[in-house]
Amino acid sequence: GTLFSLYFHGLHHDAKYWDAPEEFRARRFAPGQARPVQPFAYVPFGGGPRLCIGMQFALTEMQLVTLELLRLFEIEWVAGQPPATMQPLVTLRPKGDFRVRLRYLSS
Ligand code: HEM
Repeated sequence: GTLFSLYFHGLHHDAKYWDAPEEFRARRFAPGQARPVQPFAYVPFGGGPRLCIGMQFALTEMQLVTLELLRLFEIEWVAGQPPATMQPLVTLRPKGDFRVRLRYLSS
């Protein structure tokens, strides 16, 4: 009857599994890396028999939305506001609101 959840953010930032864990290095996931990602060290969608059934949908949707946003807009951080901080829940999200400016890139 005890409810528990895994601390994904802690695992995904653990120096035991990641070099420079706080740095954004997308290349760590590319094939042929000196330090390949260890099994179950990166589990944003869980793992094993209860793996998220929406994983492929979510990954595809995120790529499409991100690509379209970057293709259509230049995105700027609005100056004069405190830096964004993280709120690690099941998913990682920003704590509170922040403003960005979208400038439409005409083709
Ligand atoms: C960024 C988006 C998403 C993230 C990070 C995410 C993450 C997760 C995680 C961590 C679990 C728990 C796995 C476990 O219990 O060990 C889970 C389960 C689940 N997710 Fe997602 N999910 C996402 C999107 C979606 C979408 C889009 C759907 C449906 C279309 C979905 C449906 C489910 C279902 C039904 C389960 C339960 C699977 C089971 O217990 O057998 N998720 N998800």
